[in-house]
Order: sequence, then structure tokens, then C-alpha cells
Amino acid sequence: MQIFDTHTHLSMRDFQRDLLEVFSRARESGVQKFLCVGFNFRSSGESVALAEKNKDVYSAIGVHPHDAKIVQAEDFSFLESMLLSSPKVVAWGEIGLDYYRDLSPRDVQKSVFRAQIQLAKKHRMPIIIHDRDAHQDILRILKEEKANEVGGVMHCFSASWKEAREALDLNFYISFAGNLTYPSSRGIQEAAQKVPRERILVETDSPYLKPWPDRKGRNEPLFIKEVLRFLADLRGEKLEDLAQKSWENAHTLFLKGGR
Ligand code: NI
Repeated sequence: MQIFDTHTHLSMRDFQRDLLEVFSRARESGVQKFLCVGFNFRSSGESVALAEKNKDVYSAIGVHPHDAKIVQAEDFSFLESMLLSSPKVVAWGEIGLDYYRDLSPRDVQKSVFRAQIQLAKKHRMPIIIHDRDAHQDILRILKEEKANEVGGVMHCFSASWKEAREALDLNFYISFAGNLTYPSSRGIQEAAQKVPRERILVETDSPYLKPWPDRKGRNEPLFIKEVLRFLADLRGEKLEDLAQKSWENAHTLFLKGGR
């Protein structure tokens, strides 16, 4: 079985002590590719470095809405130079809006989000979207900025079928993470049954979002199987088939079908 964990934060401190073991546990259980996602300048740089060091790791670069308030215009050219210097950078993200924690003022979040969509389009990179309690503004901005020209993924999907359908119309994939397995996630589960299989991705978002029932503690790529198992059951599909299909989808979106 081949599994692509399309969203991890393996460069974070949480993995500093035992990253090699985390990798080998995951690889042994079939996780054969990892997309390590940046959320500020430092983590973007670290993600690129990790991808340069490991054949099966790819990276994404971007500034998360939490850090939108500390961004300056010249910082973006720094991100662009990272992108141009490494063929392992395959997406722009994670970017978006977070109205749950509101760590940056909302108007700043929006302008930093728009600026990065434009950069993703300039470099023809798919976009990784972080959307926390901001579904309507996210979808509106994606439409206004014509993000469909590059497409991307709604990472850690947390809305309902209505929003999923709008995102699909905008040329976006839907990625499911550990929160899919929580008993309170009925709306997400309903969407997960309806998303066409050509547009499904899976991820751990590790070290966050450990799947149910053992939600406490650090998540890691190994546990992506719990997400796949839950999703396959929901959809009445075989785990192996869904793993394979989402593997192919990840290649189509991030690796232009190849590599
Ligand atoms: Ni993330």
C-alpha cells in the first residue's frame, strides 16, 4: 500500500527528538510520501531543508493567518527565492483565514491571504488553504482572486457539503484529517461521503489532530491509516483502493502527475 500524507509539520520541535523513528514507523506502514507544510518564514525554510534531505519529502511554503500581522512586503520575495531555489517546493501554503483564534486582525489576514494567492498564481503553484470558521470569506476571496486557475486543497476540511461543493467548483481538492473521526463531526462526515473520489486527499496535520478515540498527545504520519480506515468505512470503499486513489490524486495536484 502507498499512502501520501499531504499535510504534516515534521519540521516542528515536537519531532526534533525522534524524527528518524517517526519516519521509519510511517514508511514501514506504507506512508511513502510526505508533504511538509510551512506556516511562517522559519518553518517554510525548515520544510524546504527537510525536503532537500529526504527523497520522499516535499515542501510547501507560506504564511499562516496567525502570523499575518508580522509580515512585511519584502518577506514575500524571501519566500519566492526559496521556491525558486528548490524543485521540492510543490505548493504555496498553508495560507487562509482563522476566525477561531483571530491572532491577526481580520483585514490583515485577508490582505496577506490575497497577496499570497497572487504569488501562487504567478508561480503556478497549487494553494493549501487553512480555513477555521471563515468558510464564506475564504470561498469569496478564492473566487475574486480567480484561484481556480491554479487550484489547490482545502486542508483539514472542517465545513459541510455545501462548502465542499463550492470548493470543488473552484478546482480544489478536499483533504480529510483526524477531525473527520470525531463524533461531533457529522457535517464533515456527510461531506466526506459525497466528495468525488477524484478529488479526495488525506493528511495527518501532525503533530496536531490525532484521530479518535485517543485524541491526546502528538499525532504522527503513521496514524494516517486511522483517517483512511474511517473514510473508507464511511464511503463503503476498500482502504487499499482509497489509499491508492488519494495517492494518485496527490500526484496529480502536487507533482503534476509525475515524480
Ligand atoms: Ni497545518
